[in-house]
Amino acid sequence: MNAPAVERTLVLVKPDAVRRGLVGEVLRRIEAKGYALVAAELRTADTALLHDHYAEHAGKPFFGPLVEFMSSGPVLAVVVQGERVIEGFRSLAGSTDPTTAAPGTIRGDLGRDWGRAVTENLVHGSDAAGSAEREIGLWFPAL
Ligand code: RTP
Ligand code: MG
Repeated sequence: MNAPAVERTLVLVKPDAVRRGLVGEVLRRIEAKGYALVAAELRTADTALLHDHYAEHAGKPFFGPLVEFMSSGPVLAVVVQGERVIEGFRSLAGSTDPTTAAPGTIRGDLGRDWGRAVTENLVHGSDAAGSAEREIGLWFPAL
């Protein structure tokens, strides 16, 4: 069998995780898994970038609060590389709702429901090869 191709994915350490001082813990888990960091930038995203990033969710009831939350403070945007890293990071992150995300995952170990409107769930990871390429282009146009 041919070796799987090396992939890249876009990880965002979301504003809730940055505020709680969890950047190092998230990066530790990525590195412990054996993936490589390709680029990283701490920045506060503007609304235009977030509308592009979350275009698939435009029109949904949580879209406005999601963009507001995601622009509420700095995020660490990271490009991560490795074989099957797209599904691998999604597995590290756990399912969307942090209350029920499996223990052992980033969301399951470190996240919870804080009673606010939007699911604050600490991290984002691209969900497919096409979205990874699109999102890396949005956040790191020079790559
Ligand atoms: P992500 O895109 O951030 O990696 O998360 P995901 O694939 O697990 O979840 P997705 O369905 O793509 O939703 C994107 C983000 O929107 C927020 N959300 N809130 N209140 C809600 O019902 C709701 N649903 C989604 C979460 O921050 C989610 O990660
Ligand atoms: Mg998603």
